[in-house]
This record gives sequence, structure tokens and C-alpha cells, in this order.
Amino acid sequence: MAPRSALRPSPLATSATAAAPRHFLDVSALDRGTLRRILELGTAFKRGEGPAATRPLVGRTLALIFEKPSTRTRVSFEVAMRRLGGDVVVLSAKEMQLGRGETVADTARVLSRYVDAIMLRTDSAAKLTELAAAATVPVINGLTDQSHPCQIMADVMTFEEHKGPIAGRVVAWCGDGNNVARSWIHAAARFGFTLRLATPESLRPPAELIAWARNEGATIELTEDPVAAVRGADAVVTDAWVSMSDAPGTSRHNLLRPYQVNEALMSHAPNAIFLHCLPAHRGEEVTDGVLDGAQSVVLDEAENRLHAQAGVLAWCLEPLSARP
Ligand code: CP
Ligand code: NVA
Repeated sequence: MAPRSALRPSPLATSATAAAPRHFLDVSALDRGTLRRILELGTAFKRGEGPAATRPLVGRTLALIFEKPSTRTRVSFEVAMRRLGGDVVVLSAKEMQLGRGETVADTARVLSRYVDAIMLRTDSAAKLTELAAAATVPVINGLTDQSHPCQIMADVMTFEEHKGPIAGRVVAWCGDGNNVARSWIHAAARFGFTLRLATPESLRPPAELIAWARNEGATIELTEDPVAAVRGADAVVTDAWVSMSDAPGTSRHNLLRPYQVNEALMSHAPNAIFLHCLPAHRGEEVTDGVLDGAQSVVLDEAENRLHAQAGVLAWCLEPLSARP
């Protein structure tokens, strides 16, 4: 938190606030060592150790701002923050002055005087960037139209729990090249696994993003053949065919039907786990048989949002004196 009034120094101002805030904006924005450290904090939290035992966020408050609906992100952040000793304020953007024209930057400056970190779920990555630029407390990406980094931290944690280290392994994405797919691309670059993306050509993530990842050393394979993508994969992943930030009325069902993750497709990946960030649209991108089947680990994945985000919070708000 920034220094507040010179006349009345905030009791919340600590040595941790002397440095630039540690934002968690994208997997691509952090180095591998930092991402690994966040996962270690999250894994320790899951075991009831580390930040779960020390409760380092006593006296700290997190603001959660939602421009879009949420079940997992809202509840997992709230529970994580409370278990770390902290408190939360949950805000709907449409009930804030933000919803009637107050700027993102002014909102960031004001909230930075009240709370110790801000999470934003928005349909515009530009708003997240603007919030982080003006905030003097850490800002966390709770999903934008471009990415969903908290989800991918939970997904990597889930993969490693079930399959061991992800480096050198093969993850196959089938469906829309959406925000979650883009965070998987970031993760392939940072965690060193092969990502096969099976999407219609028109729904591929942007060529510049693929080029960035390859330039970072990632192996990204693009195909329109879902069977080729999943063959021998260690994980098969999909997501909704229409995302919250897509234009109202968007329908791609005919285009994406060949990419449905069903029992026939999974038969080509007998050793793979199945991941889906949820909410699922049963009978569209995934069948009941796969979602509820033996290869599915979607409930572990949903649970790991809590643990991975506890790691994110503990890292973002780590006092300077405790940093390695
Ligand atoms: N996966 C995910 O972010 O779920 P919510 O939309 O429910 O937060
Ligand atoms: N791609 C989906 C993810 C929901 C958690 C969306 O943006 O709506």
C-alpha cells in the first residue's frame, strides 16, 4: 500500500510497501523461478504448512472486483484470503462508480488507500493494465478476455499432482483458442512443456502470441485435427465454446463440434488426465462421460484454485523482510 496521508500514517503501511507492488497479471509476466515459488507456497498451503500455518495476511484486505460472473474465482479467493488470516471486500463493478464512468485509474488510486491488494475480473485486458499502472498495491488478474493466469497455476499444480513434473510433457488443447488457451501458451513457455492446440484456423490464438512463445523456447504445435493433438498426450484440456467476453449471440457450435472432447477422442489419449476450468457446457465442448469419467480431474483442478491462489496472495503480499 502506498504511503497515505502525511498527517496520519497508515497503521497498515509496512516495510513490504516500500517496494513496487508485486502484481500477478499474467504467467508470461513472471519468470519460471517466481512461478515455481508461487506453486510451492500453494502446495505448502494445501498441506496445511507454510502460509496456512503462519497466516501471514492478518490485518490485510483484498478487494475482489467482478465485471463478469464467477463461482470458483470468487469463492476460492475469499476462502484463501481468510485462511491466510486476511479479509475481503467483494465488489460488483456495476454497483461501483466504475460502472457509471469513474475511471479505472481513479478507482485504483482510491482502493489502494483502503485495501492491500486488488483482484479484477474484466472483459478488457486493457482495464487490468490500467488498474495495475495506477494502483500502489498488488493487482491480480482474475480473468480477462485475453488470459486467466490463476486458472493455469491451478492447472499446472493439478497436472503435477497426477502426472509428475510438467516439463517435457504434452498438453493438448481442443476447441476455441480463447483466454484460457492463451494462458496455456504462456505456461508452455514458462514451464517447458509441449502444447498442442487443436482449433479451427479462424479461432487460433493470435500469431504474435504463438511467435512470442516460440521465441521464448516453447514448443507449440498447431493443428485442425483433434485426434492428432491428443494422441499420446499427458493431458487433454478444453473450455467453453463461447466465453463471457465474446459478443452476445456468438455461436460457433457447428465450427467447434468436431473438437468436442468425448469418449472416442479420449480413447486416443488413454494415459491423459482431462482438465476443464469449469463451468462446463455438458454435451457441447465435453460429454458427461468424459467430464465424469475416470480420466477427469476437474474437481481437483477446481479445488486447486484455492491452493494456487493462496500461493499467489502469499507471494504478492510477502513482506520485504521475508523475501528470499
Ligand atoms: N474457472 C473459473 O474461473 O470459474 P468461475 O468463472 O466460476 O470463477
Ligand atoms: N473462457 C471462459 C472461462 C471461464 C472461467 C470465459 O472467459 O468465459
